[in-house]
Amino acid sequence: MAIEKRIALDAQLSLSRLVFGAWRLLDMPERPDAQAVARLIGMAVDLGLTSFDHADIYGDYQVEAAFGAGLAAWKGRRENVQLISKCDIMLISQNCPDNRIMHYDTSAAHIAASVERSLTNLRTDYLDLLLLHRPDPLMDADETARGLEDVVRAGKVRAIGVSNFTPSQIDLLASRLPFPVVTNQIEHSVLETSALYDGRLDHAQRLRYAPMIWSPLGGGSLFTGQGTREERVRTALVKVAEAYGTSDISTVAIAWLLRHPAGLIPVLGTMKPERLSQLVKALDIDLDRQHWFAILEASEGSPVP
Ligand SMILES: NC(=O)c1ccc[n+]([C@@H]2O[C@H](COP(=O)([O-])OP(=O)(O)OC[C@H]3O[C@@H](n4cnc5c(N)ncnc54)[C@H](OP(=O)(O)O)[C@@H]3O)[C@@H](O)[C@H]2O)c1
Repeated sequence: MAIEKRIALDAQLSLSRLVFGAWRLLDMPERPDAQAVARLIGMAVDLGLTSFDHADIYGDYQVEAAFGAGLAAWKGRRENVQLISKCDIMLISQNCPDNRIMHYDTSAAHIAASVERSLTNLRTDYLDLLLLHRPDPLMDADETARGLEDVVRAGKVRAIGVSNFTPSQIDLLASRLPFPVVTNQIEHSVLETSALYDGRLDHAQRLRYAPMIWSPLGGGSLFTGQGTREERVRTALVKVAEAYGTSDISTVAIAWLLRHPAGLIPVLGTMKPERLSQLVKALDIDLDRQHWFAILEASEGSPVP
């Protein structure tokens, strides 16, 4: 089965199958200047990663502006990349002095304000995709849907999705929107498999939306974790990797995600060009069903019942 290099989320929007996650952009040992960010963007695009995942809060509200400066210095064209951002998490931060406590805000006013700030910081006049970052227990579905519709109608956002939502939370929001919720960005990996069992991936297949996957390598714990689960999974990945002529377990861990029929879109977190070049090779590994189960078995610690 050939692995699609891009995935359509709706009639207008397609994402690269592997997305560049910008969360850790300012965690690099040296803060990248605009030229360094522009080089990173160019390198990602050359590898086929044309979609970039952001959130207003990344890097304590600083990542979007650093990326925007790089995007302005990059020689490519805005319409050849897809910019994704998120809103609704309210951090305690010097940059947001009104936040007395960590909370969520899905009000129409906050959605509008957050989108404006993301557009300014990213130096663009539209987001390809806006996600509600976390489910808000005080979400008023009518008001939130109105806020989302407003930014879409104003041409500031092309499509709407969510992140970390349960199927029923998606259904609630979708019941008030005149357009579909195009993705749910969730945590899933060879070390975090609950989405296989709790209905989130079933819901995606049922409604035919492609889920985006965060921390697809367990946030790095696949390489550094010392627990028995990590050890088991690493051992299984090494064995499976051999069968595909590689010694790199990270590509096989990403190939394991790509094998799922819901059409998962891993959001890669590394900032290292050599690691990104390695990870795109996952698109050429079509995992055999029994290899897929061998990795699941190692993750769960026992064979399927
Ligand atoms: N929606 C949400 O709630 C949510 C939550 C978290 C993240 N996200 C998104 O998901 C993206 C990815 O998350 P993540 O950064 O946790 O993803 P990840 O790809 O699972 O982890 C990346 C981390 O693994 C490390 N790593 C160590 N060895 C590696 C190797 N051989 N290959 C690749 N990485 C290696 C990287 O370090 P180096 O940089 O040194 O390579 C980096 O620190 C974020 O950038 C963000 O866009 C979304």
